[in-house]
Amino acid sequence: MTTYLVTGGAGFIGSHLTTKLVEYGHQVRVLDNLSTGSLKNLAHLGNQFEFLQGDLCDRQAVAQAVKDVEIIFHEAALASVPRSVEHPLDTHEACVTGTINLLDAARHAGVRRVVYAGSSSAYGNQKTMPKHEGQVPQVLSPYAAAKLAAELYCEAFASTYGLETVRLRYFNVFGPRQDPNSPYSAVIPRFVAALLKGDQPVIYGDGSQSRDFTFVENVVQANLLASQADGVSGRVYNAACGQTLDLITLLRLICERLDVSFAPHFAPARVGDVQHSWADISAAERELGYRVGISVHDGLAQTVDWYVEQHRLSQNKVEPVAAPLLSSGVTAVPPSAKGHVA
Ligand SMILES: NC(=O)c1ccc[n+]([C@@H]2O[C@H](COP(=O)([O-])OP(=O)(O)OC[C@H]3O[C@@H](n4cnc5c(N)ncnc54)[C@H](O)[C@@H]3O)[C@@H](O)[C@H]2O)c1
Repeated sequence: MTTYLVTGGAGFIGSHLTTKLVEYGHQVRVLDNLSTGSLKNLAHLGNQFEFLQGDLCDRQAVAQAVKDVEIIFHEAALASVPRSVEHPLDTHEACVTGTINLLDAARHAGVRRVVYAGSSSAYGNQKTMPKHEGQVPQVLSPYAAAKLAAELYCEAFASTYGLETVRLRYFNVFGPRQDPNSPYSAVIPRFVAALLKGDQPVIYGDGSQSRDFTFVENVVQANLLASQADGVSGRVYNAACGQTLDLITLLRLICERLDVSFAPHFAPARVGDVQHSWADISAAERELGYRVGISVHDGLAQTVDWYVEQHRLSQNKVEPVAAPLLSSGVTAVPPSAKGHVA
């Protein structure tokens, strides 16, 4: 049976990927240092996966994690532009040093393929849209630089050592389980959390900036396809919806779903943020067989409803359960039931 390793599997995207792999009956191991992730995100899986608590920069832990693994989904990173502006060295360590440690351990262990979670931040502000993989990157933040540097290591390990690597550039992924409570939370959880608390959501800049918001299930599909497709090692693909939405429109849609009035607070634009983001997904469609399964509107409705339910449970003092929205066949269990912790 193929053994999959998901680094960062206790995080937002990694937990959805882990859930899907378990649902398909695969043997799955998760490596995570729980710095931004939580075992609550995997609680619904019970003991159906193996959990290793460890850091990507700890070579021993990484060597243990890659043992007998065929395919790695590399999700672990400090995934935030503002965090990288405040703490560039931490971002570098997790994203770049962590990735080269993983790649080196993978080649020594005979891993077949590594699928890397890259970022659309690598594009920066391009003159022409939509953004495609042939464009020259333009990094506007330490996060973008770190995610791109790790991409280059993936490319180098494919050409130098024959380790198969496929890079996906994710565009603003959103969905259930994305953390709304961190100072570095992404825009959708931040808007919803503020509105549920009765606070004014903050828009940095004038709200005209736009993003290609991508429901997490689409990114999970892109990963599964990238892990299996032939002739794609060493290549990079956008993983996105192929549509763009400005922040004013995004907030209006969320307000409509919550049935609350639209009254944002505008704050100065943040350093490192790109102005517009919109992906050309034709390469992924052509070479990976990727299709957008869930539209941004349907994904947004599911996501907002999930936050509302979590809010309701927390108001009633019930510990929220990490509901496996993407896994119809998996039974939810209380958060105390954790995977096997090595
Ligand atoms: N969420 C997005 O919109 C988005 C967009 C582009 C790229 N990405 C990339 O997708 C991946 C997953 O992002 P996410 O949104 O799920 O973030 P997340 O913070 O929810 O998940 C990251 C996980 O990695 C773990 N981690 C961090 N540093 C680690 C280390 N040194 N060793 C071991 N584990 C470590 C964290 O504990 C966490 O569980 C990241 O690589 C991120 O850069 C995300």
